[in-house]
Amino acid sequence: MTDYPTLDLNDERQIPQLGFGTYKLEEKDAAKSVSAAIDVGYWLVDTAAIYENEKGVGEGVGDWSDIFLQTKIWNESQGFDRTKKAAQKCLDRLGREHVDMLLIHWPCPDKGLFVETWRALVELRDEGKAKSIGVSNFREQDLRRIIEETCVTPALNQIELHPSFQQRELRKLHDELGIVTQSWSPLGQGDGMDNDIIRAIADETGQPASAVILRWHLQHGLCPIPKATSREHIEANFKALSFELSEDQISRIDKLDSADGRMGPDPSKFC
Ligand SMILES: NC(=O)c1ccc[n+]([C@@H]2O[C@H](COP(=O)([O-])OP(=O)(O)OC[C@H]3O[C@@H](n4cnc5c(N)ncnc54)[C@H](OP(=O)(O)O)[C@@H]3O)[C@@H](O)[C@H]2O)c1
Repeated sequence: MTDYPTLDLNDERQIPQLGFGTYKLEEKDAAKSVSAAIDVGYWLVDTAAIYENEKGVGEGVGDWSDIFLQTKIWNESQGFDRTKKAAQKCLDRLGREHVDMLLIHWPCPDKGLFVETWRALVELRDEGKAKSIGVSNFREQDLRRIIEETCVTPALNQIELHPSFQQRELRKLHDELGIVTQSWSPLGQGDGMDNDIIRAIADETGQPASAVILRWHLQHGLCPIPKATSREHIEANFKALSFELSEDQISRIDKLDSADGRMGPDPSKFC
């Protein structure tokens, strides 16, 4: 991973900055796409119990034990004992003794279980089943609550983040608390490339529009995890590592932020 960009986690480990997402990759296609992504050069692969593709993802990663592998505990498995059992099932499906990052998928505030779920992740980390632990879709109040009650700060919060929904306040809080921001749907679920500013910058740089968006994430210190099925898309997205955007180009993309740009569920309600 010599020349690959990485970010420092608050647990003294490092995370590769560009990852590969696998949501909606069916079990039968997951192994092929993941092994293509690793062949192209990606060092991080993200999956989740709810994606129902962990077996294929594990097969795609194969013997590449240095690949940074992440998975997530689904909402129905929240609670201390259920989470511990669910994590073991994830490991069994992935064919691994441990994952590099284990996340709570959604806070589900109405369930009232995320603090004990977090305690289970802390224990799983102490047992060596997850090298690092973090959360996903956590809001400021959720982050503050687990930190206050357990004194353990998540290493990472994986949140919806793309040019139309830039999450500036949460990113600022993450920086204050020492939490890495990982961007889900970094390409706006594929819609982000269909934008005049993005297309203009793609023309100026001679790079694919998807790589322009991913480069914007990287230069902001974010960790994007684009999903792609074909090798053509996987390679286009990887070009994000091979050029730089100017300050002017970054600020033109910064201006695409929109108050109603959220595409996925609202974490205060979703469970
Ligand atoms: N924690 C959470 O709650 C949460 C929620 C959603 C997603 N995620 C994670 O974040 C990952 C990424 O998010 P996402 O999958 O929602 O959206 P995304 O990565 O923003 O976009 C994926 C879409 O863009 C298309 N695409 C990718 N590269 C392309 C290219 N070079 N040219 C044209 N189209 C391209 C893909 O098509 P093809 O597949 O046809 O290539 C797919 O339709 C997920 O896979 C998952 O790992 C997490």
